Amino acid sequence: MTELRVPGDKSISHRALLLAALAGGESRIRGVLTGEDPQATASILRELGVRVPRLVADGELRINGVGVRGMRAPGGILDCANSGTTARLMLGVLAGQEFEATLTGDESLRRRPMRRVTDPLSRMGARFEPLAAPGRLPLRTTGGALRPLDDRLPVASAQVKSALLLAGVTGGVPVRLIEPGFSRDHTERMLAAAGCALTTSPEGGANRVRLTAAPPALDPLDIVVPGDFSSAAFALALALLGGAGEGVVLRGIGLNPTRTGLLPALERMNARIEIEQGSAPKGGESAGDLIVHPSDLTGTEVRPEEIPGLIDEVPVLAVLAARARGTTRITGAEELRVKESDRLGALAANLSKLGVEVEELPDGLVIEGSDRPLSGPVEARGDHRIAMAFGVLGALAGNAITVDAPAAVDVSYPGFWEMLERASRLAARPSVRDSGEEDVELARPVHGRKRGPVIVIDGPAGSGKSTTAREVARRLGFRHLDSGALYRALTCALLESGLPPNSWPALTEADLNAYPVRMVAAGSDFRVMLGARALTTELRSPEVDAHVSAVARLAAVRGWLFGRQRRAGREGSLVGDGRDLGTVVFPDAEVKIFLVADVAERARRRLLERGREPDLDGAVTAEAARLRARDRIDATRGIAPLKKAADAFEVDGTRLSFEEQVDAILGVVRGRIGDRSAREFRLPGNEVK
Ligand code: S3P
Repeated sequence: MTELRVPGDKSISHRALLLAALAGGESRIRGVLTGEDPQATASILRELGVRVPRLVADGELRINGVGVRGMRAPGGILDCANSGTTARLMLGVLAGQEFEATLTGDESLRRRPMRRVTDPLSRMGARFEPLAAPGRLPLRTTGGALRPLDDRLPVASAQVKSALLLAGVTGGVPVRLIEPGFSRDHTERMLAAAGCALTTSPEGGANRVRLTAAPPALDPLDIVVPGDFSSAAFALALALLGGAGEGVVLRGIGLNPTRTGLLPALERMNARIEIEQGSAPKGGESAGDLIVHPSDLTGTEVRPEEIPGLIDEVPVLAVLAARARGTTRITGAEELRVKESDRLGALAANLSKLGVEVEELPDGLVIEGSDRPLSGPVEARGDHRIAMAFGVLGALAGNAITVDAPAAVDVSYPGFWEMLERASRLAARPSVRDSGEEDVELARPVHGRKRGPVIVIDGPAGSGKSTTAREVARRLGFRHLDSGALYRALTCALLESGLPPNSWPALTEADLNAYPVRMVAAGSDFRVMLGARALTTELRSPEVDAHVSAVARLAAVRGWLFGRQRRAGREGSLVGDGRDLGTVVFPDAEVKIFLVADVAERARRRLLERGREPDLDGAVTAEAARLRARDRIDATRGIAPLKKAADAFEVDGTRLSFEEQVDAILGVVRGRIGDRSAREFRLPGNEVK
């Protein structure tokens, strides 16, 4: 079983930053989420005069609070980006501050309703002026002296509840609320721990919350933010659906009962999940480990009163339902229509486009599970949780799904795609092992103890990666791994097998292992073999060209390839080129290059490579259009999207000759590994010419 950790809880991260700002002394926060949402909260706090250091997940964040009314008027507009929590909670904080401020957000946030917060805050005495549409951001706020509030919330919403409680704190007035359900209670817990007089009590199905007094400065926090259950839900779903081998152990996940409503629903669906509750750390919330086994899921009925406890998990639940046996019916979830996107609409439209039987209700979904292969493009509508839910579905064997906005995940889960790739590789592991280590016949180990350096060159199609990598390898006396040739070899094998291309998405890794594609080390290259035949010109045939990118998008293919590439790299002294070598296959590579060039130049090189005259009959324009389309597919596919690794050097070859490009890369390589190590790890017999 693989162990995974997920980034810090988004809700707790926002609140930790806000409460630290309102405290009277130094707070210490560990494990904060560094995603775009809490970044928005942090940068607004900076605008308001609070010194918030750069957010770091690993270290400790220390923040000196300014007290509940110590913020200063901002110089500019406060941008909440995509974050509803930032906007609503900040409206509450600003209500008690004696100055004017303007809050805005991105296009999605500017569509979301704010009246649910500004109406009760207005009743407390704060003023709000919408600068565009009524009840929407941008809003000009004027805070100051407030009146007490005694209110019944129209919806069970932690954002609304928190905004009103925070206004009570900054305005120094009591707030009494009745919430028609039990939304997450992080704010209540944290305010009580920070010295506020606050009580909660259930009243039938409702939640009564009373803030009777708050100190002029909150007590500083000392908190460890647990892993976000809502983020963990995606790996959990992947593992339940058998997409992560024998399963996963998710460590250090927040288990606040107002957040884990997904678990009882999954239990009814027959999910095998063990929970090992840890002890609650000082000042933090309870956390523990989730041990998740592949399970045969069945459909279930999710009732309205369950929704607040799994409000953010409906997308991933919908995806689980699509793969369960029988029908799943979710009702009472109309709140999902006003999240980062209309999630009910987005789920219904995308599931049905992929071939799932789904009915969209005004307040929910009815989903028929099946095990038929699902394929096609998904429109995430810029919504992180829609992108991640379909990312999970796309990572399952047999499905071929592309997500149009992979970067949306950065809001709450930076590193999501890498996690997915890592976890889903495990599903493939036994078959990769069985497929025989002898596939790659490597030169005998050359350097007893240490492996040689691995150099990867990733980049878009047509940047000349492969010829450049071959030359860099030759000049270093290393071996060249052309990962594109492997995809092409598999595509050749599939074409020759006569299986119709529309059945390829259903192939599993075990099926792929039946094709006798092998790599054999040959001098400074690997020869790609199909059975006893070395593949050369076949790899560049028009049929292979036409099918290779669809093949490269299949999750089973990525798993199949991963093992082969890793084995090719196990001795090091390797220069590989591809799309995801630096991000996925060799995240530990010593040198990572990201080779780019503008699209017209790439088109010209492509044509030259194929022996065509690049400047006649609009050939460059046509090729450039093809490359642009290819770039879009590569950058947005759910599985291993083309992305520059954070620690890669970008080399722009647009204005460089081939020689200059090679020299530039060799310069980076020598700078990184040093001349000595380059010489020491040269392969025997690979003389440098
Ligand atoms: C959140 C509350 C929920 C949730 C959101 C985070 C919070 O929204 O969907 O992702 O941190 O308070 P609502 O309270 O509006 O339901």
